[in-house]
Amino acid sequence: MDRIRIRGGKPLFGTLAITGAKNAALPLMAASLLTEETLELNNLPQLADVSTMAHLLGEMGVRVTLNGNSPDGCGGRVLELNARSATNTTAPYDLVRKMRASVLVLGPMVARHGRARVSLPGGCAIGPRPVDLHLGALKKLGANIEINEGYVEAEAPNGLTGAHIVFPSVTVGGTENILMAAALARGETVISNAAREPEIGDLAKCLIAMGVEIEGIGTDTLRVQGRERLNGVRHTVLPDRIETGTYAVAAAITGGSLELTGTRLELIDTVGAVLTAAGAEIEETETGFKVSRRNGPVCGVDVMTEPYPGFPTDMQAQIMALMTVADGAAMITETVFENRFMHVPELCRMGAKINVHGTSAIVRGVPQLSGAPVMATDLRASVSLVLAGLAANGVTELNRVYHLDRGYERIEEKLVGCGADIERIKE
Ligand code: EPZ
Repeated sequence: MDRIRIRGGKPLFGTLAITGAKNAALPLMAASLLTEETLELNNLPQLADVSTMAHLLGEMGVRVTLNGNSPDGCGGRVLELNARSATNTTAPYDLVRKMRASVLVLGPMVARHGRARVSLPGGCAIGPRPVDLHLGALKKLGANIEINEGYVEAEAPNGLTGAHIVFPSVTVGGTENILMAAALARGETVISNAAREPEIGDLAKCLIAMGVEIEGIGTDTLRVQGRERLNGVRHTVLPDRIETGTYAVAAAITGGSLELTGTRLELIDTVGAVLTAAGAEIEETETGFKVSRRNGPVCGVDVMTEPYPGFPTDMQAQIMALMTVADGAAMITETVFENRFMHVPELCRMGAKINVHGTSAIVRGVPQLSGAPVMATDLRASVSLVLAGLAANGVTELNRVYHLDRGYERIEEKLVGCGADIERIKE
């Protein structure tokens, strides 16, 4: 298993290109199942999760073609997907267990083929992550759902019929699954208490271009008029706001200055507000924004994660890394996932002072972290350890970097380009 070695203590300076959002690319790829025509996705990031989704769709009969780099100046790749001959409606356990987002093929498959057999994704390091809300909503659209031998077996031989879906709690994947199912359902579907993440807006914009009528993008109520057939489109994936926020923290934690291009500050406004309160300077540019912290301490800022537009749970580990070197204390509360503090013991091994009480962690800043061998446990915990290693005195070695490769494209290359002393040790 590859390792990453960082010699910390160097402020980062330079320009860094942000690519397309992993958490938009995955549902957009699943949306290819809704039409016989070709869906072309631009600005796609080169990530392990995108390859896993391409592999899964390929197994189901989708023709997936990688067509080089995006022509419109974005950093991402072009992927063409055509599901004309996708008749295999099974998503097998060995692929779904690798990536929970595989469950996003369920809604489109039931809507287009009237049946689907998708392995239950199972939990992961950050929590049990059930899909009960997805299944309850699909039933409301007329699907018959059974669980057999660890698989969801969904049938809708007469197709799906629009309904009023009310999610009892906000679910990003559940909203995406139902939005795609409703695209081919008869009549109108109203989704109340829908998730409002920008990735859902990106999916909705792509579905509208494919011929679906959708109102309420960006709000918690989506109104969808289903269609019998959808057309293919070319869609550019929106920039990855979590990659954006992560590198913004890298500038702040190392006391440097980074210009992030191919992204937009508005995508991370709550993160930007916390970084500014913590002492960073942020200045918008033509193609993104510049974030610096060249003088003055990091100030402690309390953070609570919430569904969008609140502070994103996917940035919790990264902002905690920054708070470990604050001149003061910060309380960080995780309200979305049950077990998303796996980075805490590893940060403490680097000299951080963090106490966890239930869903909150009290971080008391220290003047300097020390490099150490640390273990990656999940995607965002891994990158918080990279951030801590960039700031720490001495050498940090991060094991199990496959977690990192799921969501960060060429991270060591991008950081070396900004002056970091970081290398991947292939084993
Ligand atoms: C998406 O996961 C993202 N993944 C996650 O990013 C992100 O952390 C999460 O949304 C919240 O923003 C992708 O988009 C591929 P949820 P998802 O359904 O859809 C509970 C990353 O690091 N829940 O909004 O799985 C669930 O257990 C990943 O990029 C149910 O109880 O998240 C969680 O506590 C990690 N029943 C909460 O809701 C359900 O049927 C939010 O989950 C569904 C969810």
